[in-house]
Amino acid sequence: MKNLSLLLLIGFVGSITANLCITKTLNFCQYGFNQNLNVSSTADWTNPGTLNFIVRSYYLQGIDGLLAVCNARQQFAQCLGDQYDACMSPLNFIASGESPADAQSYVQLFKTMEFDCNGGFIQSSRNWPCIATILQVKDDKLNECRQQYNTDLQKSPSALCQASADYETCVRRQFGTTCGSEVSWWACERTRRGLSIDSDCPSDTCSLVASGAAMTSSGDERPSKLVFEMQSDVVDVIHEISKRQKMEH
Ligand SMILES: *[C@@H]1O[C@H](CO)[C@@H](O)[C@H](O)[C@H]1NC(C)=O
Repeated sequence: MKNLSLLLLIGFVGSITANLCITKTLNFCQYGFNQNLNVSSTADWTNPGTLNFIVRSYYLQGIDGLLAVCNARQQFAQCLGDQYDACMSPLNFIASGESPADAQSYVQLFKTMEFDCNGGFIQSSRNWPCIATILQVKDDKLNECRQQYNTDLQKSPSALCQASADYETCVRRQFGTTCGSEVSWWACERTRRGLSIDSDCPSDTCSLVASGAAMTSSGDERPSKLVFEMQSDVVDVIHEISKRQKMEH
């Protein structure tokens, strides 16, 4: 019995150590990320607004800007290695004194880039001109979507999943009307990934057809939903393909 509790204790401590985000390492990797984007400022998780501004300005430059961001992000993730997942949790930064909003915003930025450059890379790269245009011309609307989400959450924190779903719908509407259904999916999934709600809202998924937007012209909505609903295993396959594509280059 005593041995068992000792074993359990060792296992417990072991799993904590494996999941630590070490600030020194994160600092180092963040420095590398900034250098890769030619940013001289010391922007990090304490000022996510500056980082957001920098990444956005690259995105608006077009596909080369996207690739520059993806390159910097890839090196950042490799630099963090095993610590990556632990560092991509807002709790880290809240524990070290950041406001929950800043902590969330920093993690959201990196989770969003992860999607833009990995899971959603195929869709990003083949639609980037339209995506970059919407990021620019619909900036106000996209901020409104975000503000509505914050307001909803403040009003009722327990309605996280509904607020998230509404946020996803709001964002996908901005992209979908101009860029089509693939980008509509991309915008929804990108938003969902950014919020890191997989464990809190497991039933929240992004289908190719926006909910409520029935395909009246083709008559039957069901088959397309079945074919195009992006489940996580499909996203994994896409991830593999984009990895292979990168290796070929
Ligand atoms: C950063 O600056 C260097 C030197 O001016 C340049 O070669 C490089 O392409 C720049 N990187 C980015 C991502 O713009």
